[in-house]
Amino acid sequence: MQIIRSIAELRAWRKTAGRVAFVPTMGNLHEGHLALVAEAHKHAEQIVVSIFVNRLQFGQGEDFGAYPRTFDADCDKLRAGGVAVLFFPDERELYPRIKQEFNVEPPHIQNELCGAFRPGHFRGVATVVCKLFNIVQADVACFGKKDFQQLHVIRAMVDDLNMPIDIVPVDTGRAEDGLALSSRNGYLSAEERAEAPRLYRHLSAMAEALHAGDSQYAALEKAAIDDLNAHGWRVDYIEIRQADTLEVAHAGEARLVVLAAARLGRTRLIDNIEVTR
Ligand code: PAF
Repeated sequence: MQIIRSIAELRAWRKTAGRVAFVPTMGNLHEGHLALVAEAHKHAEQIVVSIFVNRLQFGQGEDFGAYPRTFDADCDKLRAGGVAVLFFPDERELYPRIKQEFNVEPPHIQNELCGAFRPGHFRGVATVVCKLFNIVQADVACFGKKDFQQLHVIRAMVDDLNMPIDIVPVDTGRAEDGLALSSRNGYLSAEERAEAPRLYRHLSAMAEALHAGDSQYAALEKAAIDDLNAHGWRVDYIEIRQADTLEVAHAGEARLVVLAAARLGRTRLIDNIEVTR
């Protein structure tokens, strides 16, 4: 695996590469990321993975400084995963003027769900992903469905700005007890880790109820929020939305997604389940 740190070098490599699939990450790689790499292999001969902890998408008081940086272990996993190139730029390479003057401004959805609790987050994600797409010039990019709102924003960006890249969504990787795999799970204490699957259990129960035809969305959301709060969580939101647009869902909607973000101690967990009925 080649480790490339400069945009110029990556561009030179890209000229000689055939079909390329891209997996952008912030490192601290787990099975969920490796599933993205495995999916990427189905779409191209050459896989590029990026590791870049993007300051632009972290708000004041968030975990930018503490975000786990595990470069050597990440490299081992990517080599074993048959990755051709790891793109590992430093901040000066991606943000040479320090302040990013031009940004990709997502539509109103950036201020809802996670965006309501993380102002500017999706602008930061869209901007860095746009830059990475421009640099890597891949044919395909793989994104996990765990970050459902992020996936939605990126698909909308690619559609609206006519970016020549196909976005491939990949199912959420889960631990045996249902907890969605996330780099932030490492922040959980042993006690919190035992409690964490409660979130998935609620989402599953809500998905089952929706599947059975329940359209009392507000009541379903409230029951889950109340129970989590009673077990020591601080729920940011649990919402049932239209799966394809992320707009507010109306009774009888066929394609839904139940989305949640909730804090357990210092760890903010997100998860979601899609429902088609
Ligand atoms: O999902 C992530 O890890 C990040 O948001 C991404 C897409 C790599 C952009 O920094």
